[in-house]
Amino acid sequence: MFEDLRSFLDDLEERKLLRRVRAEVDWDLEVGAIQRRVFDGEGPALLFERVRGYEWPLVSGVLGTPERYALAIGCQPHLRAIIARVRDAAEHPIEPVLVGDGVCQENVDRGTAIDVRKFPTPKWHRLDGGRYIGTLGLVVTKDPETGHRNVGIYREQILGPDRLGLNATQQVGTLWQKWRRLGKPMPVATVIGLDPCTLAASCVQARLGEDEFGIAASPARCGARPCRWCAA
Ligand SMILES: Cc1cc2nc3c(=O)[nH]c(=O)nc-3n(C[C@H](O)[C@H](O)[C@H](O)COP(=O)(O)O)c2cc1C
Repeated sequence: MFEDLRSFLDDLEERKLLRRVRAEVDWDLEVGAIQRRVFDGEGPALLFERVRGYEWPLVSGVLGTPERYALAIGCQPHLRAIIARVRDAAEHPIEPVLVGDGVCQENVDRGTAIDVRKFPTPKWHRLDGGRYIGTLGLVVTKDPETGHRNVGIYREQILGPDRLGLNATQQVGTLWQKWRRLGKPMPVATVIGLDPCTLAASCVQARLGEDEFGIAASPARCGARPCRWCAA
């Protein structure tokens, strides 16, 4: 399976499921409009190489079709196979292993060096209140009573160099209310551009207290226990 987003993008490109856009594009509505059209035609993921004013590329639509979604979680590209695989992983989570460090800590900005605006973040839609990052990323929070982790995709609006706003609904909302009652700030980590299987697992409607990282890591993802749809 794919250890990280980069290897997944390489694989998509090899299969012609990812296309590079070499022309310069504007983060302000143009990227969103192009992606919308491509979505409507069930087209490839897009790697925008030149976003106006930025040195880094931007990828979008990564999990935008059943075919790409199935590749990400390691099953056949049929909706029934995807559902079966996700359900199987949700029913057989494993205990995640905590490690002391990771590649995400290779580049660290602190204090006044922090500026999330350095990333090429689109204003996707005309009526959006601003620029939203974290549409291919996770929000990781913790239950103050049990210590259990929660993971979900919550798009985050850039409010300043070191400020992101998110709509604290669903389980993040429940946890935030708990932290509020305790009068303590809620610790939050946001993880942008990670491996596609963990992204997919983070959207499983797991019960509060069930760790989506454990679902992502379920061996079902790699075909160790092929379901009847995938075995066909
Ligand atoms: C691209 C994307 C963006 C999402 N943004 C939000 C969001 O802003 N708010 C929200 O409540 N759910 C959002 N979701 C759905 C949640 O990630 C999903 O329902 C998840 O299961 C919630 O997890 P939790 O209830 O364990 O926190 C988004 C999903 C995707 C794929």
